[in-house]
Amino acid sequence: QSVYSNKAGSPLREQIAYNGRPQLLSVGQFSRDSLEQLFRITDIMQPIARRQKVTRILEGAVLANLFFEASTRTRISFGAAFCRLGGSVCDTTGFTFSSMTKGESIYDTSRVISGYADALVVRHPEQGAVDEFARATNIPVINGGDGPGEHPSQAILDLYTIQREFSRLGKLVDGAHIVMVGDLKYGRTVHSLIKLLALYRNLRFTLVAPSTLEMPAHILERIARGGHVVEQSTSLAQGLKGADIVYATRIQKERFADEAIEGYTPDFQINQALIDSTCSADTIVMHPLPRDGRPGANDLSTDLNHDPRLAIFRQTDNGIPVRMAIFATLLGVENQVQHSMRDA
Ligand code: CP
Repeated sequence: QSVYSNKAGSPLREQIAYNGRPQLLSVGQFSRDSLEQLFRITDIMQPIARRQKVTRILEGAVLANLFFEASTRTRISFGAAFCRLGGSVCDTTGFTFSSMTKGESIYDTSRVISGYADALVVRHPEQGAVDEFARATNIPVINGGDGPGEHPSQAILDLYTIQREFSRLGKLVDGAHIVMVGDLKYGRTVHSLIKLLALYRNLRFTLVAPSTLEMPAHILERIARGGHVVEQSTSLAQGLKGADIVYATRIQKERFADEAIEGYTPDFQINQALIDSTCSADTIVMHPLPRDGRPGANDLSTDLNHDPRLAIFRQTDNGIPVRMAIFATLLGVENQVQHSMRDA
């Protein structure tokens, strides 16, 4: 048992619990109210994330960061967020450096690590594998991305970024027009983000993808049931008209047996000329990153790098305070953070 298991007085942790446990496996654990509570905790974390303030609220706590699939942002930012709260991080990356390569089960791995750590972040190439880790332990488990399944912390930081950008522009998320572009079939970030956005009202989604990479039907049905308008298109120039948010994604080549992707042409690239000719001065361009910089990749051009509408690095910066808020909530210390802060 971790000392954080029995922390009392954390209503948000109880509201978002998964099967009664403090875990973050899916965005389906959130209501609009609990999401907005988490955003208020994220705002409190901002000065700590920027090193204007410091806290040692998680001093002595250990995070086990288990990444069985490649990652830069999620692994480093979860680790940095835990350190910013005063804790320490133990990492393992890839199967090669884990005893799972010797045949150890997820159950045994998870049980063993629960004796060493106070929280576990897991990325795994198979959908559902992180849930299996979570079922084997009582310490908080966070889904850092499970195959084509979900990536809840990315969706939360994306929506937090949208809220901040809209607040600056005097806009509301309710009623917004969101255009999602690229690999909507295998892109777990869009699967999580569209479900989270559906908690808002009267949204219009335009989904632009090659016919081979369209958003799964079960997600489309869920969004339509929420009263939102969903349009699918293979024409980016048409789809971008009137967009408040353009959310581009990389083709998830690692999830294909075949390298060739039918219909994925340069017409799917978000670039300066396209944004200038179709979007307004207050359209926000987002991407979960990494963008693919190799020849033939079409997701997001670097020619937008100096355009203030490009929010990709504001997104990555927001990853730290959002992940700090997730840890503080799951470990039940979110109400103590403000009193624990001192000047850096
Ligand atoms: N956005 C994201 O998940 O990035 P990484 O794969 O680098 O963690």
